[in-house]
Amino acid sequence: MWIAKHFRLSQAYSELESLAAERTAELQKLTQRLLKLQDQERRKLARDLHDTTGQTLAALNISVSVLQEQCKEMPAILAMVAEVARHSEQAIEEIRTMSYLLHPPLLDEVGFACAAEWYIEGFAKRSGIDVRAEIPSSKGRRLPRDVEIALFRVLQESLTNVHRHSGASEASVHFQQKADAVILEIRDFGKGIPPEHLRLLHGPSAGSGVGFAGMRERMHELNGTLQVKSDAFGTSMRATVPLYAMQHSVVGNSGDVCAMFAPD
Ligand SMILES: Nc1ncnc2c1ncn2[C@@H]1O[C@H](COP(=O)(O)OP(=O)(O)OP(=O)(O)O)[C@@H](O)[C@H]1O
Ligand SMILES: [Mg+2]
Repeated sequence: MWIAKHFRLSQAYSELESLAAERTAELQKLTQRLLKLQDQERRKLARDLHDTTGQTLAALNISVSVLQEQCKEMPAILAMVAEVARHSEQAIEEIRTMSYLLHPPLLDEVGFACAAEWYIEGFAKRSGIDVRAEIPSSKGRRLPRDVEIALFRVLQESLTNVHRHSGASEASVHFQQKADAVILEIRDFGKGIPPEHLRLLHGPSAGSGVGFAGMRERMHELNGTLQVKSDAFGTSMRATVPLYAMQHSVVGNSGDVCAMFAPD
């Protein structure tokens, strides 16, 4: 009697376990699909912003310059037109930054290393955080597109977290491209993640935020890992993605192209 009951209980338990594993796998698939859709949507939004509002503002800017020429003899009107010109320049800059942050064209054109340099430079300017970057040039060797996007999103989210949560005035980004893997490490010298919060981040729910869970899922999809270390001296995020022989591609020498395209 007791044995039969025990048997039924352990059977129910293992059924529950496999149901939970199934649900976890489904949830993981759904998250990965959502992240892909989010990337596509960001890319589309970036292009639309650039091609519609960005172009309208560029046209406005041309008309304003013509107007400025024609108002040379009318100082009162000229001052107003100059004000309009300043606003339109600012709007162009804002739309361009917004569009590039949604999906930097550099990422598609010349790859992760250049896009990362550009992003870090802009981030340092906007946040006032001093970021030391060690990102060797890829020498024209491109990573697979999904790896480049995932690494870029990890960089973006980690630095955003540094700005929002760490209180650090200094951070560093280190990127290494080996034959069989790429490693991206973002470190800050801030207050660190409280231990109880860190435990949550390591658990299945990844805490309350979406950022960490998203980074972890992106790595998971590429068979990579995301390691978080944190103490009272700061936090480090280390993303490692294995590379397989088939994934490499050479797209010519992008050498100085980085400087040519770099916005801001
Ligand atoms: N560099 C950091 N320094 C200190 N605390 C951090 C750092 N990065 C993350 N955290 C802590 O870990 C938590 C989870 O980060 P996560 O990115 O998942 O969420 P979030 O930034 O709060 O919200 P979001 O969903 O907008 O990203 C943060 O709320 C913060 O408490
Ligand atoms: Mg976050």
